[in-house]
Amino acid sequence: MVDLHCHLLPGIDDGAGCWEESIALAKEAASLGISTVVVTPHAAYAGRRNHPQSVMDLTAQLRQRLQQENIPLQVREGMEIPSHEWSPGCANQRHLCLAGSQYVCLEPPPGHQPLFLRGIIFESAVLGYRPLLVHPERCEWVQRRPEILGELVASGAQLMVNAGSLVGLFGEKVRHAALELVRRGLCFAVCSDAHSRTRSFAPFKQAYCLVERQFGPAVATRLFRDNPGLVTGAGT
Ligand SMILES: [Fe+2]
Repeated sequence: MVDLHCHLLPGIDDGAGCWEESIALAKEAASLGISTVVVTPHAAYAGRRNHPQSVMDLTAQLRQRLQQENIPLQVREGMEIPSHEWSPGCANQRHLCLAGSQYVCLEPPPGHQPLFLRGIIFESAVLGYRPLLVHPERCEWVQRRPEILGELVASGAQLMVNAGSLVGLFGEKVRHAALELVRRGLCFAVCSDAHSRTRSFAPFKQAYCLVERQFGPAVATRLFRDNPGLVTGAGT
């Protein structure tokens, strides 16, 4: 399995707090059958900005530590970017794409469907980027009208649903919206969004089993391996 969204880098956002926690999470990921993760710290957290170079340096350090500890997990670099901050015209100076690909992990605002989102998606597509909207099922405007996402997908967006949402960690409304996106064929990939020992990779495996049971093995393979593998493969 390939996970495109987790907060495994230590000490730079609300993810892993220290190296020990990063390594414990990486071990867990590998033991669950995850072969590759893309680390996606918040582009900015608690008033501090994470620059692409510092994220790449920290990712290289993590890679080295995993090698030393013999943990069979490939780690690629990325970022979780608030959608209002993303500007495809200055992508590389401010933000990192996922695993060197043209896919960017964008976090949509929770409360209202922003008018700018459609423009951003269009502009990104024109410039060759692939916007991946992360956990849209947690947005109220998506829960109310999931069909809006069909329009955004038609204009070039891809959707990534959280494993925790599918297994009910964020409540019934979120779970329902997440399942609805998979049912409608709008979900491109499922991600762990793992942060810490208490919000770990475990739901990723549980969500895999749930999707396999409810939608069949072909869908599970597509959402947990093939589509995310396209992203990590695209940058190699
Ligand atoms: Fe996240």
